[in-house]
Amino acid sequence: MAAGSDTTTRDVRLLPAALQKELKRIEADFTLDTAMLKKITERFVEELREGLEKPNQNLAMEATWVLGYPSGKEAGSFLVVDLGGTNLRICWITLKTNAQPTEMEQKRYALPASIKTATSDELWDLISDSVSDFIKEFKLHNGSSEPLPLGFTFSYPLAQDYIDHGKLKTWTKGFDIKGMEGEDIAAQFRSSLEKRKLPVKLVSVINDTTGAMIASAYLDPETIVGGIFGTGCNAAYMENVGSIPKLKTTLPKDTKMAINCEYGAFDNSHQVLPRTKYDIEICRESARPDEQAFEKMSAGLYLGEIFRLVMLDLHEQGLAFKGQNAFDELNQAFRLDTEFLSGMEHNTDKEIQARFEKTLNLKAGRDELVVSRRVAESIALRGARLCVCGIAAIIKKKGITKGHVAADGSVAIKHPGFRKRWTQAMGEVLDWPSNRTEDPIIMTNAEDGSGIGAAVISAMTIKRKNDGLTEGIKFEGSTK
Ligand code: GLC
Repeated sequence: MAAGSDTTTRDVRLLPAALQKELKRIEADFTLDTAMLKKITERFVEELREGLEKPNQNLAMEATWVLGYPSGKEAGSFLVVDLGGTNLRICWITLKTNAQPTEMEQKRYALPASIKTATSDELWDLISDSVSDFIKEFKLHNGSSEPLPLGFTFSYPLAQDYIDHGKLKTWTKGFDIKGMEGEDIAAQFRSSLEKRKLPVKLVSVINDTTGAMIASAYLDPETIVGGIFGTGCNAAYMENVGSIPKLKTTLPKDTKMAINCEYGAFDNSHQVLPRTKYDIEICRESARPDEQAFEKMSAGLYLGEIFRLVMLDLHEQGLAFKGQNAFDELNQAFRLDTEFLSGMEHNTDKEIQARFEKTLNLKAGRDELVVSRRVAESIALRGARLCVCGIAAIIKKKGITKGHVAADGSVAIKHPGFRKRWTQAMGEVLDWPSNRTEDPIIMTNAEDGSGIGAAVISAMTIKRKNDGLTEGIKFEGSTK
């Protein structure tokens, strides 16, 4: 079979009857039809509203203190630290005026798996040592005695009273570092930087979704939303301050404030999302079973794990990998990542067999190949369709009719079928006419948005401070 070719109906018909029946059941369980997508979107709109209305609702709808879109004229050099779910990235970003391309030097620092359950000191040591190493390696200075302005992208739920402050509400994406929940992580970072006497000044703390939206808007005024479809799943958009009843502020009602929805937590009370037994198992096995219900069905961290649970189930029923010992590798939680899953859809039979052999020490025969392709497709398709619901809800709530959704994250950037599936489902939810000449809502590529966005937001924050518009900025220290 050629790379990327569909498993044909004929291939499925050749499967043993019991496996065929089970595959049908699995595919039905993972199917979300248009009516279901619309139902999920309607509930999403309600949860967005509830989160803006009052504190402590299911969707946090965090005010970020990023006020309005950038002008596109922001300029200057900024250090950016971007702590994602899988990587620590440090960048030196120079924004230029007159639409000249942004310059970026960057280095990725490995995050050992053990960091996820380390202590706060261990995390800050790792980050600050990396910052120190980066400053030395790239010989950074800004030509004055002022410290280097630093933007920090911290992509976890933060309650922010100021843009340079953020209390961690709860860890997500499998992180569980002690001594940080409920604490001001900006203060912790600042004191770790100060301990090393590093010549930097923390200017802004942002979420990756806000970063994607602002980095995109810096160049593209049609940007309406920043979405991350990666290890986690979340979006940010601009809301009028007057439409955020829970926010205490003296800002005029028509001021625009970026909202980090934190919508990975959508439907934590399980009212609308149709969960399969595999989703229920993921929640049950998770360190935080009652959190991030939506993210656990749609984000990159979990897609490979859902696939693993399905294949393990088939094996336990005697329907796949018969007579092989699948219990060592296939039984290991989070053994498979999203790349493994997308490979199932896009690699040749030979490549897939090699992957099974290498990663799981299993021999995949014809039946396993047919089933894995179909299961992988069902899981990825459901994920892409779910990812539409949160964005469609924002679009509906705001009455937006056209614009660009700036997308970043490994699933959006690396999964070859994602964009097409997402666009198809968006059309179904928003009832786009079939005779349209172009799609009103288009997903655009905001790769690196979490880094560049932090630089643009730092420039906006410094300007705001210099203009005397200081609400929402603490700005301890001297950087102007
Ligand atoms: C998780 C985090 C959220 C982040 C998203 C994408 O949902 O809680 O802050 O934006 O992952 O990285």
